[in-house]
Amino acid sequence: MVQYIGIQDVIEVLRTLGTERVLQELAKYIEDDFRRWEDFDKVARIASGSPNGVIELMPISDGRQFAFKYVNGHPCNTNAGKLTVTAFGVLADVASGYPLLLSEMTLTTALRTAATSALAARYLARPDSRTMALIGAGAQAEFQVLAFKTMTGIEKVRVFDVDPSASARFARNLATVPGIHVHVTQSVDEGLQDADIITTATAAKKHAVVLTRSQVRPGTHINAIGGDCPGKTELDREILHASRVVVEYPPQSRVEGEIQQVDPGFPVVELWRIIAGLEVGRRAVDEVTLFDSVGFALEDFSTLRFLRDITQEIGAVRTIDLVPDVADPRDLYSLLRRDGVLAA
Ligand SMILES: NC(=O)c1ccc[n+]([C@@H]2O[C@H](COP(=O)([O-])OP(=O)(O)OC[C@H]3O[C@@H](n4cnc5c(N)ncnc54)[C@H](O)[C@@H]3O)[C@@H](O)[C@H]2O)c1
Repeated sequence: MVQYIGIQDVIEVLRTLGTERVLQELAKYIEDDFRRWEDFDKVARIASGSPNGVIELMPISDGRQFAFKYVNGHPCNTNAGKLTVTAFGVLADVASGYPLLLSEMTLTTALRTAATSALAARYLARPDSRTMALIGAGAQAEFQVLAFKTMTGIEKVRVFDVDPSASARFARNLATVPGIHVHVTQSVDEGLQDADIITTATAAKKHAVVLTRSQVRPGTHINAIGGDCPGKTELDREILHASRVVVEYPPQSRVEGEIQQVDPGFPVVELWRIIAGLEVGRRAVDEVTLFDSVGFALEDFSTLRFLRDITQEIGAVRTIDLVPDVADPRDLYSLLRRDGVLAA
C-alpha cells in the first residue's frame, strides 16, 4: 500500500510537534540534503505557462529515492476565492519504481518555503537581525514569520500589503504568538523602518517593482520569494547589482528568479556551496545579501522525506490503494476476477 498524507495529517503533525518545531526539523532535512547536493540528479522544473499562471512539475532523485511535486502559481486566483499556489507530491523507491508516498503539498510548500528562507537567512543575514519588513501578506506570510522567529530570532515584523484586509488578517493570525510583534504599515517605506531583513512575498504575473535600490540600507538581507516564474519579478534590477545574490539552482533561477532581469553571466552564489562550507555567506556587516528564491525540487524531496519519517514516528500513517496488490504480478487481470467485475 502507498502512504497517503492529506491536509489533516499535516495538521496532526503540526499539532503534535508544534509549528515552530516542525519548521526547525524540516529545515534540518533541507540543510542535510543541500549539503549532499552532488548526490542529486537535478533538472530545472518543467513549466506550462498560461495567461493566468503556471503549472509546474519538479522532479529530483538521489539514486535511492525519487520525488516530484505538482505545483501551480495563479496570482489572480485569490479574486475568485482560490489559493494562488496549490501542490501535491510523490516520493518513490528508485530500485522498484514503486511510489512510497502521495502527499498534499500546499500547506507543506508554505512550510518548506519558510524553512528554506530562514535557513538561507541563517547564513546570510546579520546575526543581530531582529526586525523584518514583510511586503505581501498572503498565504505564505505567517509561515515565513514563524520560521524567521524560531530560526533567526526575529522579534518584530512590519507588514505592508496593497490590500489592507490581508495585513489585518496577518496581524490577527499572529496576535497570539508569543515573542513576535506585528506592526501594520500603510506603505513600503513605513514598513522598511529599522528592517534588518526584508521579505518580499507578493504575487503578480508581471515585472513588478515592490522595492527599489534606494530603499535598501547597507547590511540588509533580502529574502525575495515572489519572483518565481518567467515574466514575474518583484525587485528593482539595480538591487541585484548592489547585492551578493544567492540562488538555489542557477539553471532554474536564471529563467524564473529575479536574476532573469540580468545577463546570463551575472555572478551568483549557490546556496548549497554556502551550506557545505565551500563559500562564505555574508562577507561584511554592511553587505546587502539577497536570497533570490524560486523554490527547488530538492526542498520538496527533503519535505517528503521528513513527512514520511515524522508520520511514522507519531503513528499517523494512512494508506491508499494506488498500486494494485496481486499475487502474480503478471496476472493484473486477476483484479477483475477478484472483485467480481468479470461475473458482472
Ligand atoms: N520561492 C518559493 O519557493 C515560493 C513558494 C511559494 C510561493 N511563492 C511565491 O510567493 C508569492 C506569494 O505567495 P502567496 O501564496 O502568499 O500568494 P498570495 O496571492 O496568497 O499573496 C500575495 C499577497 O501579495 C499582495 N501584493 C500583491 N502586490 C503587492 C504589492 N505591490 N505590494 C504589496 N503587496 C502586494 C497581495 O495583496 C496578496 O495579499 C507568489 O508570487 C508565489 O508564487 C514562492
